[in-house]
Amino acid sequence: MAKTNTYLLLLSLVSTLFILNSASSEADILLTFKAFVQDSNNYLSSWSNASATHYCNWTGITCTSTPSLFVYSLNLQGLNLSGDISSSICALPYLSHLNLADNLFNQPIPLHLSECSTLETLNLSNNLIWGTIPDQIFQFGSLKVLDFSRNRVEGKIPESIGSLQNLQVLILGSNLLSGSVPAVFRNFTELLVLDLSQNVYLLSELPSDIGNLEKLEQLLLQSSGFHGEIPESFVGLRSLSILDLSQNNLSGEVPQKLGSSLKNLVSFDVSQNMLLGPFPNGICSGKGLINLSLHTNFFSGSVPISIRQCTNLERFQVQNNGLSGDIPNSLWSLPKIKLIRAENNRFSGEIPDSVSMAAQLEQVQLDNNSLAGRIPQGLGLVKSLYRFSASLNAIYGELPPNFCDSPVMSIINLSHNSLSGQIPELKKCRKLVSLSLADNSLTGEIPPSLGDLPVLTYLDLSDNNLTGPIPQGLQNLKLALFNVSFNQLSGWVPYSLISGLPASFLEGNPGLCGPGLPNSCSDDQPRGRSVGLTTLTCALISVAFFIGTLIVASGFYMYHRYYKQKTQRESWRLVFFYPLRVTEHDLVMGMNEKSAVGSGGAFGRVYILGLPSGELVAIKKLVNYQSQSSKSLKTEIKTLAKIRHKNIVKILGFCHSDDSIFLIYEFLQKGSLADLIQKPGFHLPWDVRLRIAVGVAQGLTYLHKDYVPHLLHRNVRSGNILLDADFEPKLTDFALDRIVGTAAFQATMASESALSCYKAPEYGYSWKATEEMDVYGFGVVLLELVTGRQSEQQAEPAESLDIVTWVRRKVNIANGAYQVLDPKISDSSHEQMLGALEIALRCTSVMPEKRPPMFEVMRALQSLDSRASLPCIELSTSEEQSVAD
Ligand SMILES: *[C@@H]1O[C@H](CO)[C@@H](O)[C@H](O)[C@H]1NC(C)=O
Ligand SMILES: *[C@@H]1O[C@H](CO)[C@@H](O)[C@H](O)[C@H]1NC(C)=O
Ligand SMILES: *[C@@H]1O[C@H](CO)[C@@H](O)[C@H](O)[C@H]1NC(C)=O
Ligand SMILES: *[C@@H]1O[C@H](CO)[C@@H](O)[C@H](O)[C@H]1NC(C)=O
Ligand SMILES: *[C@@H]1O[C@H](CO)[C@@H](O)[C@H](O)[C@H]1NC(C)=O
Ligand SMILES: *[C@@H]1O[C@H](CO)[C@@H](O)[C@H](O)[C@H]1NC(C)=O
Ligand SMILES: *[C@@H]1O[C@H](CO)[C@@H](O)[C@H](O)[C@H]1NC(C)=O
Ligand SMILES: *[C@@H]1O[C@H](CO)[C@@H](O)[C@H](O)[C@H]1NC(C)=O
Ligand SMILES: *[C@@H]1O[C@H](CO)[C@@H](O)[C@H](O)[C@H]1NC(C)=O
Repeated sequence: MAKTNTYLLLLSLVSTLFILNSASSEADILLTFKAFVQDSNNYLSSWSNASATHYCNWTGITCTSTPSLFVYSLNLQGLNLSGDISSSICALPYLSHLNLADNLFNQPIPLHLSECSTLETLNLSNNLIWGTIPDQIFQFGSLKVLDFSRNRVEGKIPESIGSLQNLQVLILGSNLLSGSVPAVFRNFTELLVLDLSQNVYLLSELPSDIGNLEKLEQLLLQSSGFHGEIPESFVGLRSLSILDLSQNNLSGEVPQKLGSSLKNLVSFDVSQNMLLGPFPNGICSGKGLINLSLHTNFFSGSVPISIRQCTNLERFQVQNNGLSGDIPNSLWSLPKIKLIRAENNRFSGEIPDSVSMAAQLEQVQLDNNSLAGRIPQGLGLVKSLYRFSASLNAIYGELPPNFCDSPVMSIINLSHNSLSGQIPELKKCRKLVSLSLADNSLTGEIPPSLGDLPVLTYLDLSDNNLTGPIPQGLQNLKLALFNVSFNQLSGWVPYSLISGLPASFLEGNPGLCGPGLPNSCSDDQPRGRSVGLTTLTCALISVAFFIGTLIVASGFYMYHRYYKQKTQRESWRLVFFYPLRVTEHDLVMGMNEKSAVGSGGAFGRVYILGLPSGELVAIKKLVNYQSQSSKSLKTEIKTLAKIRHKNIVKILGFCHSDDSIFLIYEFLQKGSLADLIQKPGFHLPWDVRLRIAVGVAQGLTYLHKDYVPHLLHRNVRSGNILLDADFEPKLTDFALDRIVGTAAFQATMASESALSCYKAPEYGYSWKATEEMDVYGFGVVLLELVTGRQSEQQAEPAESLDIVTWVRRKVNIANGAYQVLDPKISDSSHEQMLGALEIALRCTSVMPEKRPPMFEVMRALQSLDSRASLPCIELSTSEEQSVAD
């Protein structure tokens, strides 16, 4: 026995000497380590015997400089490494930091790492590590930081972990740990961070000795299986700034002394538990609290008055508990408060007028409590508020006229309360998407100003006592939900407003009449002034249209004559980016009625011209509004002509005079996607449609992200997607604003049918072009491909809904998603089509920030293409739901 020990001692001495003496041996150790690692991306290419680089300069290595060069830190994070973590690494005598996070190591926790006696940091986060935590791993007392998070580590947390007395950071979150957490925390006097979150198989009470951790700053135990009460001992966590206990099964009351002792609390989250009882006093005595989150537990009790001191509190989340009592008044006027979520509790009391002082308040959710009182005037003074929902309470009184004055207000839900009086005119909340005032006692008429809110999409006024007509202006909106059932409305309902909506959304209004309703507005029935108005409006519009046509026609004629005269003497300048054998004269002469195609896009007609070489080119004629110098025009067009992408039409050259520009594009024989869809009997297999969608997405991604300078298309529509012989799509008419100038571009776009459904809703109030607007246009094209419908159908008034509104209304109904898919395509493609529909709905989201960027859309479509079958997609497309989270 003794002999063996001596032998071992000798051996280790020898090997240590060997290491110390031979500088190259550290390189060998590293090379041995590398030999066990699979490095498919060749990130460790600098690790080589042959390389002239000193090993201290190899990828990921940091050396000490004293006593001499020794490997001190090995950081190979995020290099896609797999294979084995070999024990050789522990032969590095001064190794202190080992970071192998974000790789693909698929093995148990390497036991031999316990031989690394100098290790202070061990980070194996986000690999594919599995198995239990071995007892022996915790032999090295030097360890300060241990991170095993985001792996598949299972089993119990071993008691031996308690011997790591110097530990400062212990992160075991997002694993499969189970059982009860041992009481081993007494020893961790240095611990700053403890994270056991997202271990759903833990079944444990909160170990009360956690309360001994006087230095602990972050305690993250959310979304695990903790139950029972919060131990009184937690008052000992004097340094805590973030406490997250949300989404457990905790119950009982929050210890009353907790607040006064947690002086540095920045974030306090005990949500989604079962905590009960009154809320602790003095929760903010340290003024450090920023996020308070107690949601989804079973807490009860009330919230302490002393919250007044939480001057740094930004997020207050106590939803889904059983809390009672008043929400303290002082909460409503905290200077930094942004989010108040208290829904699904038993709170009483009311919102004070002093809410006007909460100048940064963005979101308030109070649904399903017992709040009473009125909506205060002060609420309308908060200009940052974008969501206010307080449904299912006992709020009474009239809505103050300013209740929707916040310019960013998007969602208001005051349904199921006891509001009375009239609905005030809503003029300032131009971004309102959803308004629900259902099930109150509101009287008076529906304010006509609702029709002027450009993005209003969900409107629920059911179960009130509203009278009068349905304002005609609501026809202008793209309403996906319109529910006025069970009021006392009367008069004629315009068919376009209700087509596609379930009739039940109008029921319970005996006075309403119109096509499709029980009452069909017989002549003896008073139609109300609305009818007269419509007739008058129609007549006026016809007259205006006639006059307009006259002016345009005569203008065109005069322009034409002027132009004809001018061409004789005008000087044309021709610039080619490709070798084309054609003269200015050929071009100008070739462009006549015979060579013109289509009725002309927004910016000018397109002509197809045969060159002397037999080649065909497409020429787009633009008016040279800017009258730019030849040089600057050339620079602009060259920027566009340099784009080389298989999904973008090539610009071959251009020709310009003082007042016209001819852009010469490559010619594509199949014409545009719009032409194809418009043809009666349009039929294209799904795989071709999906390929077109992917191609267009690739083209747009290229413009947005890869091409320098980044460009916006600004006019994405199926008419601007040309198809080559193989149905490969190519975008045309891109970035014309750079050629005709921003002002002229906008004027032309604006003069286009104001309701063009390719235009994003925010187009109405924001002139600034954005990627999101391109994404919206793409979403409409994708809807065309999925449904096989034209974006706008003129044929029958009944079908005159634009495609976005039509689809939204359908998918709001159960199984509606299947109804919008092109019936000409067989069931076998339905899964992919539903996937594409889901993407299209996100792209055409009313709120620009909900739309995914183009490259994400491209990826999603590509993965549809490559995946034979998709996981079942839940088509919960209600904007309100997606806005909610
Ligand atoms: C590196 O080179 C030395 C001698 O030059 C050799 O002994 C050693 O085996 C080599 N190591 C590797 C991993 O090739
Ligand atoms: C590492 O590289 C730097 C600069 O390239 C050089 O100054 C330094 O001497 C190198 N270190 C070693 C140990 O060779
Ligand atoms: C890792 O590999 C995957 C595919 O094997 C690749 O998509 C990814 O970009 C790689 N990551 C890095 C950082 O190289
Ligand atoms: C471990 O590495 C991951 C990935 O880089 C990092 O996010 C995490 O903060 C590291 N853990 C510690 C305790 O530093
Ligand atoms: C605390 O550390 C000591 C010394 O390493 C050890 O004996 C003891 O078991 C540890 N306590 C716990 C609770 O792990
Ligand atoms: C937590 O509560 C839920 C519902 O009350 C229950 O289904 C679950 O089993 C509980 N989990 C634990 C770990 O107690
Ligand atoms: C508070 O919550 C927000 C949103 O979840 C987060 O971005 C922020 O980092 C949190 N602050 C602290 C101190 O935890
Ligand atoms: C309202 O909250 C209670 C708990 O306080 C919950 O049981 C109930 O389901 C909630 N009602 C709705 C409609 O969410
Ligand atoms: C609605 O108004 C009518 C008359 O204005 C009144 O008789 C009726 O009670 C009201 N109904 C409700 C639910 O307020």
